[in-house]
Parts: sequence; C-alpha cells; structure tokens
Amino acid sequence: MTEAAPTLSLTRPDDWHLHLRDGPTLAAVAPDTARRFGRAIVMPNLLPPVTTTAQALAYRERVLAAVPAGLSFEPLMALYLTDETTPAEILRARASGAVAAVKLYPAGATTHSDAGVTDLARTHGALAAMAETGLPLLIHGEVTDPQVDIFDRERVFLERSLLPLIERFPRLKVVLEHVSTREGVARVQDGPERLAATLTPHHLLLSRNAMFAGGLRPHHFCLPVAKREEDRLALVEAATSGHPRFFLGTDSAPHPRRRKESASAPGGIYTAHAAIELYAEVFEQAGALDRLEAFASFHGPDFYGLPRNRERVTLVREPWTVPASLAMGEEELVPFRAGERVAWKLAG
Ligand code: NCD
Ligand code: ZN
Repeated sequence: MTEAAPTLSLTRPDDWHLHLRDGPTLAAVAPDTARRFGRAIVMPNLLPPVTTTAQALAYRERVLAAVPAGLSFEPLMALYLTDETTPAEILRARASGAVAAVKLYPAGATTHSDAGVTDLARTHGALAAMAETGLPLLIHGEVTDPQVDIFDRERVFLERSLLPLIERFPRLKVVLEHVSTREGVARVQDGPERLAATLTPHHLLLSRNAMFAGGLRPHHFCLPVAKREEDRLALVEAATSGHPRFFLGTDSAPHPRRRKESASAPGGIYTAHAAIELYAEVFEQAGALDRLEAFASFHGPDFYGLPRNRERVTLVREPWTVPASLAMGEEELVPFRAGERVAWKLAG
C-alpha cells in the first residue's frame, strides 16, 4: 500500500506585488495568479503608466476580463506616483474604492520606471494626502545613482531615502517591496508598526550566484538583484519567523523570452505559475510549514486593513516538472524552474 502524499490546507493567499501587463500578455498570465490567489496588488508600470484613477479603473476592467470564468479573483489597483501626482488625484483614488495603494518607482530604477519620481520632495503633497486618507505607499527601494554599486542600491536607499521619508510622514503606511538585504529586513523589524515588507519567492530561493551558475542566466535576473547567501538567509528567517509585517508579494514579472535572452535582458522573473508552491518549498526547508498560512494569507490583509479571505486552497507534496516554456500571446515565456521540479502542487 502506498502512503498518500502529505497535504497542506491554507486560507486562500493574496499576492501583494504582481505584474500582469496588458493585452495578450495579461490574458496569458492572469489565470496562473487567479487560480492560486484571492486578490493581488496589480503593479501600474505599464506603457504608459497607470497614473490616474480613471486609468486604474479601466485597467481593472481589463484584468477582470482576463480572469477565467468560475474563479473569484479581485484585482487591487495601484497608482504610479510621479512628480506631478496631485493630492486631488490621491483623494479620487481613495474614493474610488478600487485603488489600494500608490507605487513609488525612483525614475530609472527598473523596468518601465522612466516616468517615476525624480525627486521625492516633489511628491510631498501627494504623500501628505496618502497619509491623511490611509493609502499605503509601496516602494521600489533602490537608489538610481550610477555611482552606487548595484548590489548596494537597496542598502543606500534605506539610509538616504526611507528613513527620512518615514520620519517626515509619521502617519504614512509604507511597504518596502521585494526586500533583498539583511539590512532591509532589520529596518522593518526595528521600524514602526506602519512599515512592512514583501518577500518574493525568488529572493527566498536564490542568491546572486544563481545569476552566474555555469554562464550568465538572464532568467534569474530581477531588480533588485539577488544578493549574498547571508542576505537570503535573513530573508528566509524574516518570512518564516511569524513576524506580522512580512508578507507575500511575488513580483512575478513576465518578459518575452526573446527579450530576456537578448544582449540587454530586462529584470523580472515569472513565478505566478508556481507561486504558492515555491513559498511552500521555502517554508518546508526552514521547518516552518505551520507558519506559511499567516505569511501568505493573514499578514497582508491585516496590514492593509482588509478582511482575510474565506475560501481555502490545498497543496499536495507531489513533485512536478515545470514546462520549459509557456505561451504568452505570440511570444514565449520562460517560467521560473523551467524544465525542473517543484516539490508542491496545487490541488484541483
Ligand atoms: C519588474 C518588471 O519587470 O516590471 N522587474 C523586476 O525585475 N522586478 C519591475 C520591478 O518590480 O522592479
Ligand atoms: Zn515589481
């Protein structure tokens, strides 16, 4: 008699940092997320970016149209902060009920961030309105100063920009997105209750060695770049510690294979096809599977002041092989772990 594979039942998780893109890419990738997650914060770095409430509401409809019938998935929209964002736009976003956060990309920090903020001082009016109305600021926390080593960009951002910002706006809720360093983890642990961080599956699973293993590996390149093994261990410790201000945010970011395998590959790793399964691997390896549910399904909604999901999902410990590539409209997408195994599988 063979023993049944172990299973894990969780409150349906949410993804607090996700790139869905638009058009045929959106249609191709949205089902992966909608099958696993109840809600997701949909990043606004489209071309052109989602800078107004009207654009966010229209994008929300396009996302909903890409969700397969029978799945209940709620997109939570984010506005793209620019030097020109007005306090009135923030109030409109809040009043819409559909915008859950505002995203700060320092101009030039990452994919489609050219329209981002050039000088934080120019956003003070918008930030004051956010603090007033309770809309959280989601931060891509890297300086763009070309003098700063790419592996130090998050650390320098913490000192130069994050600390002054938190002090200047004592009521502003802030999420340090895709935290990638042990110093980032420490800042959140030592910071106020209104400061939280999201953790991606790839930063929990890879150190920077993975970008150079046996040759240059563009499918392991994301921003912020993966750091040292000691940083990765600090991220795993934060995720699995039960600390309520660390929660799930995949930063799943699809790019066509032809661009990822070109002479200048954009940052971004696609994990939506196996997102909760990959987190389960991390928690299992850390001997903390009993803490996965709080990290994936409780800490996020608690921080955002939203209700926890009521449905459940089941994971089975049944290894499966990720396809070598996925169709993405006319393009091909190389998913994380392409051609390799993932230990956990989503049931149903
Ligand atoms: C993201 C993308 O491709 O939109 N890329 C990435 O490397 N994470 C942008 C981002 O979140 O930085
Ligand atoms: Zn992102």
